[in-house]
Amino acid sequence: MNVTVVGTGYVGLVTGACIAEMGNTVYCVDVDPVKIANLKEGVLPIYEPGLDTIVVENHNSGRLRFTTSLPEAMEDSDVFFIAVGTPPGEDGSADMRYVQEVARQIGTHMTRPAIVINKSTVPVGTADQVREIITAQLEARGVEVEFSVVSNPEFLKEGAAVDDFMHPDRIVIGADCERARQVMSELYAPFIRNRPRTMFMGVRDAEMTKYAANAMLATKISFMNEVAGLCEKLGVDVENVRLGIGSDQRIGYHFIYAGCGYGGSCFPKDVKALISIAHQVDFEPKVLQAVEARNEQQKHSLFSKITTHFNGDLEGRTFCVWGLAFKPGTDDMREAPSVVLINSLINAGARVRAFDPVAHETARREFPAEWFDDGRLEIVGGQYEAAIDADAMVLVTEWKPFRHPDFKALKRLLKAPLILDGRNQYDPVQIKREGFEYYGMGRQPILA
Ligand SMILES: NC(=O)c1ccc[n+]([C@@H]2O[C@H](COP(=O)([O-])OP(=O)(O)OC[C@H]3O[C@@H](n4cnc5c(N)ncnc54)[C@H](O)[C@@H]3O)[C@@H](O)[C@H]2O)c1
Repeated sequence: MNVTVVGTGYVGLVTGACIAEMGNTVYCVDVDPVKIANLKEGVLPIYEPGLDTIVVENHNSGRLRFTTSLPEAMEDSDVFFIAVGTPPGEDGSADMRYVQEVARQIGTHMTRPAIVINKSTVPVGTADQVREIITAQLEARGVEVEFSVVSNPEFLKEGAAVDDFMHPDRIVIGADCERARQVMSELYAPFIRNRPRTMFMGVRDAEMTKYAANAMLATKISFMNEVAGLCEKLGVDVENVRLGIGSDQRIGYHFIYAGCGYGGSCFPKDVKALISIAHQVDFEPKVLQAVEARNEQQKHSLFSKITTHFNGDLEGRTFCVWGLAFKPGTDDMREAPSVVLINSLINAGARVRAFDPVAHETARREFPAEWFDDGRLEIVGGQYEAAIDADAMVLVTEWKPFRHPDFKALKRLLKAPLILDGRNQYDPVQIKREGFEYYGMGRQPILA
């Protein structure tokens, strides 16, 4: 099959590369000429385990092509994925201008029957909107071309995106015509050979499914963070509570870790977008609003603990931060709790020395250049280097090398033996034995 994927970010590049890997010819289109030029040279814009190999191999074989020209890609394709960003607008609603622009371009250049697939996360009703935009363009050109618009939301996780795409839990397809269902089935068949798992549904049902999935996961996290806050007040260790409730099969262990808040390009924006969608139809989304509010507060929790510990006196202190990406396995720092923490520390007069196994370049773009110039913020090359003469080590992202560090070396390097564990990675008993003061999330502090 000849396929075009418009938007070459986390979702578009993974989708394009994985579909090419199965023998299809894929054009990946992006408006960013630097991104496209780099991809042609085998330089990827993002870090994602396993992605570089399949991108380079499929590009070299000619199955994966990169271009800034949608008309060029359209000459050769019958299937179009729209995988551009849908960032939050000022009021929290999904900003649909990129999706609409792609629809306009498709309508402007379409010359033969096509299937247009919304892979971006989009509000209910977007497929209808995309259909209307394309139809208007075709009418303006005075041509008639058959096409259908399908909703095929993406459920991959950053950090495991290639694996998720290659071995999906489910493929949700919202399609209202038989031909589209057949083409989608053919396209995805190689990914689900041994376990058929395609779910066909209405287009609007598929659009809603994606938001409901992310909102459910965000709800689990915020719920657990709320329980954690209560545990701190009541002298309870939330980690024991987590194990106690996770063993109930109706609850399960996934997404019930207390922590310093969820980030990334999806949960925060999709919860906000669903709240906005609800308001548009005059529905009060009480649970979603609470999920969002709890998470905003949670992102400030590490800073609150630090402020309390030092009686508000952070001027001139240095903090070692382990982990900048919003989660392990990615270089993505969009809405990351590390950003909230570092901004708060530096605005309070402290200095930060941070380490992340892959997000160092992203971090350089994330913070003001003058912070790097005057030394208020340093991104260093190793986790122990970050600890030198720091007043505390703050663990923000649970990368594997942080899980069982050399506590003796850490204690030697820090100015004072203090750990703030934003992801409950450490065993308080061991921490106490090693001679650290300790704050977790939803646990009792260990103080000297
Ligand atoms: N990142 C994830 O983990 C994830 C998972 C599932 C779904 N999604 C959804 O997928 C969509 C894309 O997310 P992402 O993280 O890949 O975004 P991204 O920001 O990484 O990439 C979007 C890309 O689209 C390009 N683009 C914008 N307008 C364009 C146009 N007119 N023509 C061609 N290219 C254009 C941008 O230059 C950018 O490279 C969003 O709706 C998101 O919610 C993301």
